[in-house]
Amino acid sequence: MSNYPAAIEGEALGDKPAKKTRYTLIDFARFKREKSKWAVLTSYDALTASLFDEAGIPMLLVGDSAANNYLGEVNTIPVTVDELIPLARAVVRGSKLSMVIADLPFGSYELSTDQALETGIRFMKESGVHGVKLEGGARVSDQVRRLVSSGIPVIGHIGLTPQSVNTIGGYRVQGRGDSAAQVLADAKALEDAGAFAVVLELVPAELAREITDQLSIPTIGIGAGIDCDAQVLVWTDLLGLTGKPPRFSRQYLDLRGQIIDATRKWREDVTSGKFPNEGETFH
Ligand code: KIV
Repeated sequence: MSNYPAAIEGEALGDKPAKKTRYTLIDFARFKREKSKWAVLTSYDALTASLFDEAGIPMLLVGDSAANNYLGEVNTIPVTVDELIPLARAVVRGSKLSMVIADLPFGSYELSTDQALETGIRFMKESGVHGVKLEGGARVSDQVRRLVSSGIPVIGHIGLTPQSVNTIGGYRVQGRGDSAAQVLADAKALEDAGAFAVVLELVPAELAREITDQLSIPTIGIGAGIDCDAQVLVWTDLLGLTGKPPRFSRQYLDLRGQIIDATRKWREDVTSGKFPNEGETFH
């Protein structure tokens, strides 16, 4: 009797079995080698996680964007570890095949490598996620190294880093002109530190292409052009729950409009006495 899941044994024999186990960093490394593009979506609850998992999204991100897209904050800065862990646990429970990554929120990893590791361990043990993401390049490379050497897969995040919006002075494209070299150096520092992928947010497409070409780990773009290995979007932008999406996003559904219409119709049925009808009533 083997210790390994059937899908892994199948792969070892050279078969192409239907996916039965969750995606791991090995799959994403293979996608990079094979030049296969893949999609990442945020999720903050079990219900959307099950939908996106069924739709074949191989990686779900419990982003700290939960702060502004789910918890009603103005930006990502206020959200805490204690608030994100239950959301991350829900996403793990709701999904079957997606690799689930949680964001380390602002203030939970910057102080020291000890602090980063403590937070990373909390996410792994208390939510069951399969890895974490943190913002920053060379400045957090010690934290990345410590997490990875302790068994926690890490994704880096450079370019526009929303947790630093106050020092950046707004949500602006990063890495234009002379600052491109720093973004490239940050990407390499993250790769050297052991990150298995790096998010490039709001950087010029030409720079994202150069970084993607120079790194052996996958790049995951958001507002970073077509040449990244993967693309990530915030699900409420994709499905039209939050109004007009940012320019780099694309809205595939007007969920906000549909939900408001349906809710209004039900309210009207209640107030006009049409709900419930006889079939919806017990005697
Ligand atoms: O928090 C988030 O949703 C993110 C993605 C936009 C990359 O970090």
